[in-house]
Amino acid sequence: MPKPEKHVFICTQMRPMGHPRGSCSEKGCTPVAEEFWYQMQERNLFGRFAVTSTGCIGPCGVGPNVLVYPEGVMYSGVSKEDVAAIIEEHLLGDTPVERLKAPADVWG
Ligand code: FES
Repeated sequence: MPKPEKHVFICTQMRPMGHPRGSCSEKGCTPVAEEFWYQMQERNLFGRFAVTSTGCIGPCGVGPNVLVYPEGVMYSGVSKEDVAAIIEEHLLGDTPVERLKAPADVWG
């Protein structure tokens, strides 16, 4: 298997209702993950990039969060509508999407 050019981690952590940290699940990560998998399949990109759902990756309060390596770019507050920009601009264009980056005080 060739090494992926980039690896996208989508937080799909769940926590009980009322938990003080909240979770990306309660903030709507599922449609984001589904959109990534759909678009990656549609664009036939799974041979170049990896997409993995994962547990908590840190800044729960600003989720849904998506982390892209090797750059270590954290996107926060990601919606289904933002997925195309991350794929086109960051994965394919090699330019992180500034407007979606997590605030520096939570990921800097
Ligand atoms: S629950 Fe998603 S970053 Fe913590």
